[in-house]
This record gives sequence, C-alpha cells and structure tokens, in this order.
Amino acid sequence: MKVKNICCIGAGYVGGPTMAVIAAKCPDIDVHVVDLNEQRIAAWNDVNLDNLPIYEPGLSDIVAQARGRNLIFSTNVDQAIQEADMIFISVNTPTKTYGIGKGMAADLKYIELCARQIARVATSNKIIVEKSTLPVRTAEALKSILSSSGNGVKFQVLSNPEFLAEGTAIQDLLQPDRVLIGGERTLEGEEAIQALHDVYNNWITTERILLTNVWSSELSKLTANAFLAQRVSSINSLSALCEATEADVDEVARAIGQDSRIGPKFLKSSVGFGGSCFQKDILNLVYLCQTYGLNEVADYWHQVIKMNDYQKRRFAQKIISTLYNTVNGKKIVLLGWAFKKDTNDTRESAAIYVADYLLSEQAEIVVYDPKVTQEQVYADLDYLNTRSEERNRSLVTVAKNYEDLFKDAHAVAVMTEWDEFKTIDWSKVYIDMLKPAFIFDGRAILDMQALEGIGFTGFAIGKG
Ligand code: NAI
Repeated sequence: MKVKNICCIGAGYVGGPTMAVIAAKCPDIDVHVVDLNEQRIAAWNDVNLDNLPIYEPGLSDIVAQARGRNLIFSTNVDQAIQEADMIFISVNTPTKTYGIGKGMAADLKYIELCARQIARVATSNKIIVEKSTLPVRTAEALKSILSSSGNGVKFQVLSNPEFLAEGTAIQDLLQPDRVLIGGERTLEGEEAIQALHDVYNNWITTERILLTNVWSSELSKLTANAFLAQRVSSINSLSALCEATEADVDEVARAIGQDSRIGPKFLKSSVGFGGSCFQKDILNLVYLCQTYGLNEVADYWHQVIKMNDYQKRRFAQKIISTLYNTVNGKKIVLLGWAFKKDTNDTRESAAIYVADYLLSEQAEIVVYDPKVTQEQVYADLDYLNTRSEERNRSLVTVAKNYEDLFKDAHAVAVMTEWDEFKTIDWSKVYIDMLKPAFIFDGRAILDMQALEGIGFTGFAIGKG
C-alpha cells in the first residue's frame, strides 16, 4: 500500500517539525496537521515565518517549501481523519496531576480522546501511528478503543517514537541516527510497517529504519530518554565532587569520553536537565516498573530525577551562600530561560526552579532570554503555585534586550547555553554591576579566568 494522505493530530514541538519534513521530502503525499488549539494553528499559518509557534533552526525554510503545496495546518480534525490513510498521533502525554499515578504516570487522556475521535469519524481503513511517547503496551489499549467502533473499519497500530532533540530538530529529522517502527508481526501488520517504511525511505536509507515488535518500540523510547538523562545526572553528580576537590568536570568528561565504550557526547555538566521529556518519561518508566512489582528497577531510575533536582537546588544554594547568605532585595540577572539553547521551549527548564528558590528568598530577578516571551516566564512561575501571581510580577522583570540589564545587579547567573552569552562585553557589564560583582555559570560556557581578570568573583558548575 502506498500512503497518499497523512493526518497528524497535534501540531506541537513534535507534530509540526516532523510533518513539515515529511511534506518537504514527500511531495506526492498530502500532509494535514491538525490541532484543537486555534492560536497555535493560526501561528503555523502566519505569512510571517518569524511567527511560527515553535523556534527551531531551519524550520521556517522547511515550512516555506511545503506549506500551501502539500502541507496544511488546520483545526478541522474530523475532515483530516476521514481523508487520511495514515494518522500520526502526536499529542502531549504529560505526567498525571491527579488520581492514581499522580506525579508519576503518563496522562493518556489526550491519546484516548484521539482514538475515540478516530473510531467515531473514520469511514475507511487506516494505519494509526503512535508518535507520542507512550508507556509500553499502550497500543493494546488503542487497538481496543479503535476496534470498538463497530463500523467495519480496520485499523493497524504502529509505534514510531520520535527521537529528535529540540534545538536540532530539523537536522535530526533530515538525518536521523535511526527511525524506529514497531508493528504487529501479522500479514496486515507487516503491510502497515512497509507503508510507513516507504514514507521514510524517501530520504532515509533502509539500514537506518529499524523494525521491531510494538512493545519493544514503545519501550525503546522510554529507555533512550532514561539512558540520556542518566548520563547527564551521572556527570552532574560528579560536578559536585569536582567542585569539592579542585578537579575540573570538563577535563574529567574529556578524559572519559575518549574511551570509545563511553563516548564523548552528552557529558556536559550543567545546572540540570530540563525539557518536557526526560523527567516525564523517567517518572513514567519508574511507575511502570512499580506496576510490575520491579521496585529495585524503579528505585534505580528514580535516582536520575533525584540527582537532577539536587543539582538545581545546589546551584541556587550556591548563589545564596556566596551572596553572604541573603539575596533578599538583591537584583540577580538570569541569562536564559529556555531549557536549552536554540529553542523557545521552557518546559521543566532548570531556570524556573532556580528562580523559584531565589524568589522564595525574596530576591529580585531579572530574566533575559533571546527567544522566550515575558508571558511565558510568568506562566512558568505561576504554574508552580509557590506564591501569588502578583508577587511573581512584582519580584520578576523580563528584559527584551541588554539595555540596562546588568545595572546595579549583585549577580548574574547563566542558565541557558545560548551562544550570544559568550560574546557579551563583560568588562562593560562589570562596570554596570554593584561590587563585588558575582557571576554563576550554570553551563560552564564562559571564560572564568578572563572574567576574574576583569574583577568578577566567579563560580562555574563543576570547576574546583
Ligand atoms: P506539545 O504540547 O507541543 O503538542 C501537543 C499538541 O497536541 C498540542 O498543541 C495540543 O493542543 C494538541 N492536542 C492535544 N490533544 C488533542 C486532540 N485531542 N486533538 C487535536 N490536538 C490535540 O507536545 P510535543 O512536545 O509535541 O510532544 C508530543 C509528544 O511527543 C509527547 O508524547 C512527547 O513526549 C513526545 N516527544 C516530544 C519530544 C520533544 O522534544 N518535545 C521529542 C520526542 C517525543
């Protein structure tokens, strides 16, 4: 079977870029991306490509290539479902905030709503592709809901988790390390797998397209994120030891990274990982293990999250103790709010938690991030519910540029590794700040020796 019409439910950080690349690479396939969020869809359709709802390097070029040709963004979910041969479900699967599994399990209500809508609306056979990250064996539940429609329509459910990293999404989609497709090993299942394989095969070679059973595919995504986050927590745990012993965590990382069994990537110590996925997926994995009675396995992975929380807390405490144990009324500039560079995504960003600790000590925070809006900063702080919205607005200011940013500041903290922070004229910043001028580099991207030469008192994560 040759796929001619794709629908993707969910126009977020995954659905938008993924479908834009499929549309750009497969001009013969119509790709219809739908979402309930009208504002988001309007932004995807904005004539000014600077207003797309997501910032990713290279995304606007890809969208410009395909939008209006074979790439459509709309809120017409029913129509898109009806017309499609293949439906990607790319909706959010956040951590549950209520009931059984609260704070741990993935909330599958959006997934289930999609399945019910597809079952209700579909009038022809469809291949359903799980693009969202899901607990292992979700496909079983999906199949059960889909097959209950009773209208004779047949569904095949595939798992095709997305491995892109925000900030490099387009590059990762154009040249992925691998694409993973899990499907049933029946004749119909194999046909569905082949159909999805052929879509990707328009630009990705067969050797890079891995085929597995559904459960392995679902579990591989959780496992990949658990391993990645574990590496960050491992190096972060050692950053604390480096600081205590005058070792340098970057030197240690380089030394161990040369070992081909360990490898050099993902060994950069920081103020803690963020992003919508790592924490949520590990908590989900921990919950799954607990559900199966595998408590030792659950505890093992839970430690990755605990270490990450420790790292964020440790950084905030370092700022407080260095500023003579009080930050009350002191202006502290946070450089960066996004969870990493080259994205406007702030979900679970370490900056939010560090700011929250400092605000609880009544610091006066000024935030500057090149891609994050003021509304987003306030929304992130309000979401924590630590203090009133008014209080957040009175203690936190969001700067649009560098003008007067550092004036009379007691301290500057680098929270996101944006390249532009490396080229700031620090001697000018030093003049503007109160003395002693403190700088805390949560990403270890600045030349601390040069800064100390200017007069700053500096601290960088993992540097003894
Ligand atoms: P997102 O929150 O940016 O986008 C999800 C979209 O789905 C939202 O715009 C929402 O309005 C829409 N939606 C929810 N229910 C809907 C419904 N019933 N009908 C139509 N639209 C609906 O989420 P994001 O980041 O794109 O993540 C989606 C999934 O992909 C999650 O399961 C996530 O774990 C996974 N993932 C995310 C990655 C990332 O880097 N953000 C990477 C790999 C996987």
